[in-house]
Amino acid sequence: MVLINEDERMTEKSDKKTKSGKVDLTDNEFRDLEQAAHRRGFPDVKEYLLALHHESSPKTAADSSGLEIAGVPLPILAHKTKLGRIYCGDSAALLGRKDPVGDDSVDLIMTSPPFGLLRPKDYGNEDADRYVAWFERFGAQFHRILKPSGSLVIDIGGAWKRGIPTRSLYHYELLIMLCRKFEFHLAQEFFWWNPAKLPTPAEWVNIRRVRVKDAVNCIWWLSKTPFPKASNRRVLQPYSPSMQNLLKHGYKAKLRPSGHDISDKFQRDNGGAIPPNLIALANTESNTAYQRYCREHDLPEHPARFPSGVPAFFVNMLTDKGDLVVDPFAGSCMTGYVTEQMGRRWLCCELDQQYVEGAKARFIGDGCLFADTGSTREAPYEIYAPRLPIGSEDGLPLAMDGGKTRPK
Ligand SMILES: C[S@@+](CC[C@H](N)C(=O)[O-])C[C@H]1O[C@@H](n2cnc3c(N)ncnc32)[C@H](O)[C@@H]1O
Repeated sequence: MVLINEDERMTEKSDKKTKSGKVDLTDNEFRDLEQAAHRRGFPDVKEYLLALHHESSPKTAADSSGLEIAGVPLPILAHKTKLGRIYCGDSAALLGRKDPVGDDSVDLIMTSPPFGLLRPKDYGNEDADRYVAWFERFGAQFHRILKPSGSLVIDIGGAWKRGIPTRSLYHYELLIMLCRKFEFHLAQEFFWWNPAKLPTPAEWVNIRRVRVKDAVNCIWWLSKTPFPKASNRRVLQPYSPSMQNLLKHGYKAKLRPSGHDISDKFQRDNGGAIPPNLIALANTESNTAYQRYCREHDLPEHPARFPSGVPAFFVNMLTDKGDLVVDPFAGSCMTGYVTEQMGRRWLCCELDQQYVEGAKARFIGDGCLFADTGSTREAPYEIYAPRLPIGSEDGLPLAMDGGKTRPK
């Protein structure tokens, strides 16, 4: 006899946890349910039963455009190129099957899921509190499809709590869930600094002046084993002027104040500088061919597109030509576009049909249509180092109530 305890169930109407009854099942009945749940991409029997329940409810009637699994239509193939495919639909349903993405077959999952922002954007965010639970379905499938040498790279922005100047922990909880529950390893955390980010949230940054600009996204680089294939030689950056000078004129080996011995091996030209885990890249595309196409065809421009440099960095460092890259939250399909150009195979899946229509514009026939100009900047970005206070700023008053009240 097996008991399924659903005391902690979240209902659709309210996020309050409600008590519900217990269900008695035989071992065989439970095993059948469990196998069906896993076959269909659900992390556990509870999620599977909830999906079956949704299926039988009239407001979630099935979409006739695709096959169905437990009430979720199977994504349909929307476009194909020489190297890749775009599917339209729920990627958890797509990845819940062994076809088209088999076990241990993917070299890189490069993605930016909808963020758990507290002020929902119009590309479908889950409430931050429910975000991690929602993501578990994908975590199970990501682990299934990834090769032991493969990497899972997730770009995820932070979120502010509603009405107070403190931050949600949801993206850290997501990271911890993926590592604890699915045994992913954190190969390295990256931070994507967008120098063009506006100073938001205005209330805390511009008006009450108690927080600074929120200008980085976290990028979690995870792997199925501690040793995913990788090479930082693929992503070297130009040497700084001082390093170029040192390479040209030499360096007298000596001890640094820190005690580090700077030996003459630092004088070797290795073809470029090893980048830090900070990706500096403005997201300021405007009037690109993709955008013009969307405008001309009355399609929405995706509001949270990658600049091409973000997927390009990881595809380059973590995959070889011919490898398979998957983006399960594809949006405008920038990952597919970059991957096609770099000679890797790819599969993208996007829920929203209109975004898929726009994404198709990136490709024509079996190749890429539009040259992307998003990441051609050669000059480095500048950021000032903190310094001791100078002049009058030293005595400026602090907000003694921590910004609880608005300044008059
Ligand atoms: C942050 S955006 C990705 C943008 C993308 N990186 C780009 O460069 O355009 C997240 C996307 O995930 C899509 N999405 C949300 N849930 C999904 C699901 N279950 N299956 C597939 N796509 C989903 C949303 O419609 C949204 O377009």
